Amino acid sequence: MSAHRFWLVVPAAGIGQRMRADLPKQYLPLNGRFVLDVTLGRLLSCGPWAGCVVPLHRDDQWWHTSASASDARIESCPGGAERADSVLAALHHLEGRAAAGDWVLVHDVARPCVHQEDIARLRSALADDTCGGLLAAPVSDTVKEVAPGSDQVLATRDRKRLWRAFTPQMFRYGDLVAALQQGIREHPDGITDEASAMELAGWHPRVVAARTDNIKITVPEDLVLAEFILARQAAG
Ligand code: C5P
Repeated sequence: MSAHRFWLVVPAAGIGQRMRADLPKQYLPLNGRFVLDVTLGRLLSCGPWAGCVVPLHRDDQWWHTSASASDARIESCPGGAERADSVLAALHHLEGRAAAGDWVLVHDVARPCVHQEDIARLRSALADDTCGGLLAAPVSDTVKEVAPGSDQVLATRDRKRLWRAFTPQMFRYGDLVAALQQGIREHPDGITDEASAMELAGWHPRVVAARTDNIKITVPEDLVLAEFILARQAAG
């Protein structure tokens, strides 16, 4: 087993425009708690972690009212304009503490239903890997490629080769810093997750098959679905 430590980065600097809500989605209520507190509670129960960093929007007005803000295991830092900038800011926040070979698990704050078993499987499946990888699930629908701004199908993709990328995504600290720096510099619009930055840097991340109830809260209906999933998970 690898002797390297595991760090957590939970980007929470988004404003969640698609939710059409007054609050960023991480501060919407889920079973009476902030989405952000549910997500962080789950992640922290899957330790041990060397530390946990949450990048926040510079105008965030709600963090200090969250349960997580008073949890001594969690540190916050200023996020950036895009998700990749926020993750990189959190990694810089760990400079001097995280070793190049340490693992970093990056998890969207808007995925509160991630199952503890999946986190444990990701950690153990990749612990001795050179690159790292991500939780993901094979695509079950037929996928069409449509030209942007049009309704015309250009092609049907071979779904046997397609997987849906979830989080957490797990990479080594030094490699992830380098890949994000290069990705942000060379592909300012193309970095929507850590794995894509690693791919652009020449790595081949591994997929670890995961439960499909690890949904990302994106539109208002997702909150109701998340409450249902959490209730089903609690019932075993
Ligand atoms: O908007 P989307 O759902 O794709 O965001 C994914 C994650 O990235 C969320 O957890 C969001 O808070 C975070 N994010 C961030 N900094 C940004 C944009 C998004 O930390 N500038």
